[in-house]
Amino acid sequence: MAEIVLQQTPAPRAAVQRMRAYHPPLGGREGLRLDFNENTVACSPRVLEALARIAAADLAKYPERSQVEAKVAQHLVLEAEQVLLTNGVDEAIHVLCQTFLDREDEFLFPSPTYTMYEVYGSCTDATVKAVPPRDDFAFPLEGLLAAITPRTRLIAIANPNSPTGRTASREQILQVLNRAPHAVVLVDEAYYHFFGQTVMDLVGQVPNLIVARTFSKAYGLAGLRLGMLAAPAGIQHWLRTVISPYSVNSLALACLPAALDDEDYLQWYVGEVKAARTEMVEGLRQLGVPQWPTEANFVLVKIGPKHAEFVQAMHRRGVLTRDRSKDQGCAGCVRLTVGTQVQMKQAMASMAEALHEIGWERA
Ligand SMILES: Cc1ncc(COP(=O)(O)O)c(C=O)c1O
Repeated sequence: MAEIVLQQTPAPRAAVQRMRAYHPPLGGREGLRLDFNENTVACSPRVLEALARIAAADLAKYPERSQVEAKVAQHLVLEAEQVLLTNGVDEAIHVLCQTFLDREDEFLFPSPTYTMYEVYGSCTDATVKAVPPRDDFAFPLEGLLAAITPRTRLIAIANPNSPTGRTASREQILQVLNRAPHAVVLVDEAYYHFFGQTVMDLVGQVPNLIVARTFSKAYGLAGLRLGMLAAPAGIQHWLRTVISPYSVNSLALACLPAALDDEDYLQWYVGEVKAARTEMVEGLRQLGVPQWPTEANFVLVKIGPKHAEFVQAMHRRGVLTRDRSKDQGCAGCVRLTVGTQVQMKQAMASMAEALHEIGWERA
């Protein structure tokens, strides 16, 4: 046997060496999970029934996605060739970056926003350009339009945006699409169900529009890893060239039709969140905690210099929240997912106690 000669471990690409590491918790998230904007209860019981029907032999086969993609297309009034299922929207973002970004290109998005745009963008050799926020976190239309150059190849707009909950109007999105005909514009509608407005109907009509949806939020399937991209067939051709054909697994594919069919469950959960959100906004107002208007299943609040103590005090009460104070423009900010009305009553009671414990005072 050849002798092993110890050497240095090979270095990754220069772009990877420059990346900022992103390490969300991968364990120990017991309690009321208000930190990652998931469904805070469960998925539809019909999904569990679909899981129970899976036979051992089904797992022996590679996953077959085409029929489920056709079903999703029908559900969203799209053509089958306009729909690509992905391993969460995260994979969709990765595939878009791999498909469109070359060395001289620019990837543009409003800041602060969903972390994985920066992660997957900086993993390429392209330049990532974050458009600075306005004070009120309203959609920075002028800043975004001004940042578009002939090198802009990809633009991502989370609508509603995270962590702010703020939105872009259809008119604003159309202005971006028109100003950057040479770029692909991703409208990430991960939180669509809590907002209700969409540009999905424009997919195929506007050649540079791609819309993403996730099944991790309202549908409660974050653990299955399921997302989708709706795009013109010509773009889908290239995305399918890049994506792993088996990245969406058989369990996820077996469950998705059941989730789509249970409209009652979806409506119940979304109704709960919207009612709880209204109550929470009012509760925060009474406590005097500054907040931003939100159309998503979370609220961004400004705690101030004691933000980390607040997150810990909530944790001791069994409520997980997300410290966003390092995001651009978000000093002192914490994000709280909105769950059901019962859960949010508990969360608001914990919040009042936590604020008292840390000696928080209204600014
Ligand atoms: C705007 C946005 N897009 C996408 C995602 C990720 O979705 P998925 O779970 O489908 O990867 C998130 C998750 O928090 C998000 O906030």
